[in-house]
Amino acid sequence: MVKKSSQQRDLFESERSFRLLVEGVADYALYMLDPNGIITSWNIGGERIKGYSPQEILGEHFSRFYTETDRTNGKPARALGIAREQGRYEEEGWRVRKDGTFFWASVVIDPIYEDGKLVGFAKITRDITERRETQLKLEAMQTQLAESQKFDALGQLTGGVAHDFNNLLMIISGSLHILRKAAPDDSKFQRAILAIDTATRRGAALTGQLLTFARRQSVNPQPIRFGDRVEAIREVLHAGVGSAVRLAFEIERDLWPVKADVSELETGLLNLVINARDAMPNGGTVTIGAHNTVLNDPLHSGEYVAITVADTGLGIPSDVVDKIFEPFFTTKPVGKGTGLGLSQVHGFAHQAGGTVKVASELGKGTTFTILLPRETATAPVEALEVGPVRGSGTVLLVEDNPDVALVSIGLLEQLGYRVHRVSDAESALREIENTGVDLVFSDIVMPGKMDGLGLAHRLRQIRPNLPVLLATGYSEAAADVRGDFPILRKPYEIHELSEAISKLPR
Ligand SMILES: Nc1ncnc2c1ncn2[C@@H]1O[C@H](COP(=O)(O)OP(=O)(O)OP(=O)(O)O)[C@@H](O)[C@H]1O
Ligand SMILES: [Mg+2]
Repeated sequence: MVKKSSQQRDLFESERSFRLLVEGVADYALYMLDPNGIITSWNIGGERIKGYSPQEILGEHFSRFYTETDRTNGKPARALGIAREQGRYEEEGWRVRKDGTFFWASVVIDPIYEDGKLVGFAKITRDITERRETQLKLEAMQTQLAESQKFDALGQLTGGVAHDFNNLLMIISGSLHILRKAAPDDSKFQRAILAIDTATRRGAALTGQLLTFARRQSVNPQPIRFGDRVEAIREVLHAGVGSAVRLAFEIERDLWPVKADVSELETGLLNLVINARDAMPNGGTVTIGAHNTVLNDPLHSGEYVAITVADTGLGIPSDVVDKIFEPFFTTKPVGKGTGLGLSQVHGFAHQAGGTVKVASELGKGTTFTILLPRETATAPVEALEVGPVRGSGTVLLVEDNPDVALVSIGLLEQLGYRVHRVSDAESALREIENTGVDLVFSDIVMPGKMDGLGLAHRLRQIRPNLPVLLATGYSEAAADVRGDFPILRKPYEIHELSEAISKLPR
């Protein structure tokens, strides 16, 4: 509180140098108001920040610095009231310059008393627009960081669990193949096998989504045209939405190609479409759209393709929307939803170098937008599908897990290959020196000095013509392999193995 005795005032008035200081301060608007809010003094800072010369502003009411809304709401008078009652008024808020532009101000108002009587107010205003913008940017980045740390931690956890599950599923599904052949035609046995098969597939789909979320799904990114992919799974999408919901398409004609894993993209799209259907119990429209866009935010800038899935459904409440990408978050009844659909979409988009956003309005609908970077390389878009072929020759299998090895050997033999198995990269290199091998099929993650990727690189040097296929159910290394070597995803089925082998460059 600035209280002044008359003695102090004398001192103040005699201190000409002090006045010069106040008048000369350029970074702060320092001025006085009379008890009614009329401006009675003005300094150079006031002129610089607010744009008025002393002649223009002296004698005016200070409310003209406030916004229209603040004035209508009686904010200036309230500020003086608070300063009087509480001895000080402090605030940050929008103020208006002479030219009508806004600035973010830090404002302090102190009442001035003389012999116990209010004689006016001292007002200090600073323009802190820049500081505020920096602050806001910082906060946004902190939120983003916290968000990504949360997802990283969740990813670590889910990725670890899913990886172990995948190896188990690999063993179950692989052994099932052998059982099916050996089991009698007795319908009881075949039914049981079918049930195990169905459950295994469901398990594989779930762990797949978990691994995608954790960004540990090994991926085969390739240049694709989104329009072609939608065409390819149109039937599936229609089946996904059911008959009560209309499916519409708004896909820009000259859409840029993107680079992504085809089956992850299709799974993600289907997840979004099914969510949209669930959000429209009374029917409605799902629109799948895609357009080119140029982004300009700190994390994603440049040319992107925006893939949108919009529904006319219930919308997402604001207290729910922050959690929807978390694994196992669901609002659906038990048995209806696992809470993994959007986690898969999130992981897929990020692994492909993009991101996913959501906009929703209660009662109106929701739009999910997957942003994927434009693919600029000129590689041919989409390789031709090759039908399963019966193989011949010798495969060197490099696999450390004996159970998985047993299954892989079984599958390879069914495809017509002879199989040698070793359990690490070093033995593989020795084996290749000593025996004739036509193809190397290696796990990526292995104990020992050299992993599957190291082996593949080494082989490329010493035996450039020897085809190498890698397999993994989980690998951060897989992200570095992108496109370098073909990768088969575990758990795989016999036709997938056959297809992967037949596509190997020879
Ligand atoms: N289009 C949408 N409209 C309204 N709410 C949605 C929409 N998409 C997702 N949600 C909300 O987000 C939650 C999480 O979605 P997510 O796809 O991850 O899991 P789920 O659909 O519940 O289960 P799952 O996809 O594993 O079968 C949903 O339970 C729902 O509450
Ligand atoms: Mg879902």
